[in-house]
Amino acid sequence: MKEPLLQVQDIRMVFRNKKQEFAAVDGLSFQVERGEILGIVGESGSGKTMASLSIMGLLPEQGAIASGSIKYQGRELVGLSDAEMCKIRGKEISMIFQEPIMSLDQVFTVGNQLMEGILTHEKMSREEAQKRALEMLNLVGIPSPERVFHSYPFELSGGMCQRVMIAIALSCNPTLLIADEPTTALDVTVQAQIMDLLKKSRDKFNIGIILITHDLDVVKDMADRIIVMYGGNMMESATREQLFSNPAHPYTRGLLRAIPRLDTGDERLFNIEGTVPDIRNMPAGCHFCTRCWNAQERCKTQRPQLVEIESGHFVACHLAAEGRKEGEAV
Ligand SMILES: Nc1ncnc2c1ncn2[C@@H]1O[C@H](COP(=O)(O)OP(=O)(O)OP(=O)(O)O)[C@@H](O)[C@H]1O
Ligand SMILES: [Mg+2]
Repeated sequence: MKEPLLQVQDIRMVFRNKKQEFAAVDGLSFQVERGEILGIVGESGSGKTMASLSIMGLLPEQGAIASGSIKYQGRELVGLSDAEMCKIRGKEISMIFQEPIMSLDQVFTVGNQLMEGILTHEKMSREEAQKRALEMLNLVGIPSPERVFHSYPFELSGGMCQRVMIAIALSCNPTLLIADEPTTALDVTVQAQIMDLLKKSRDKFNIGIILITHDLDVVKDMADRIIVMYGGNMMESATREQLFSNPAHPYTRGLLRAIPRLDTGDERLFNIEGTVPDIRNMPAGCHFCTRCWNAQERCKTQRPQLVEIESGHFVACHLAAEGRKEGEAV
């Protein structure tokens, strides 16, 4: 059988101090194929970035993958040496980082940074690499590639910087791109342009994309499948159609109600009160129980398992799973 492009299985990623460990990601599983866009959605602190840094092998010093498996084209990435990971990172799997500081260096020109990646991974002369770099800037819709090639990042707008980061990420023909909140700092028009660019890149290169955002609206027109994370756990996993037509987890429903309904003219925003608990202070049962309007006693003590409520649609909620079996809404 053909191996999936990326298969993540039951990952547990923890921060350790001398005495204890705290999970920032626990029980995350998914797969991504070429040509597919997977959306990962959740509020701040849900574990989205730690999940992507786990795949890239770039966890912070005190962080580690405690268990689980991450396979890229059938090859296990967990436990690979840094030297091995370096060959994959930026070449096979590339990432657009949430923190600009991890992406663009202010003291080098755009051209310099583009060429560095290309020369690291491809057997090319400097002239060929420069040609490829200019092609990439053109491809991501930068109006005067020659000028931007010689510019420093601080001379460019936020939207242009984001395009440059996408150009760098795509410059070595990766098969998988992880985009961590690629548009959060941009205004709405530029956001739409960047999303369009990601979609076109998927179509042109047939790459798999993991698109991370706190905003369900962003993945609404983009993702084939969506995972909703909360407090490091996977709360719901479904196709885009299933998630928007039949959201099962109270948290997903809360997030959906937070999307302003422009079509009905109803501008009231529903907010789920409170914030994601700190990883050092997660409830024993369902991580969402402290904010859930339906929470019962067992929700506080028993962590719900993922249950398949319709083909390919999974939810981790005691009540949603039972309600759906009886055909009721929660
Ligand atoms: N270096 C660190 N040491 C200890 N805990 C950390 C560290 N970095 C992140 N965490 C914790 O791990 C959890 C998950 O963080 P993560 O950055 O993955 O969230 P996120 O979903 O990406 O949030 P955001 O939307 O704000 O980017 C949070 O509770 C965070 O406080
Ligand atoms: Mg993040």
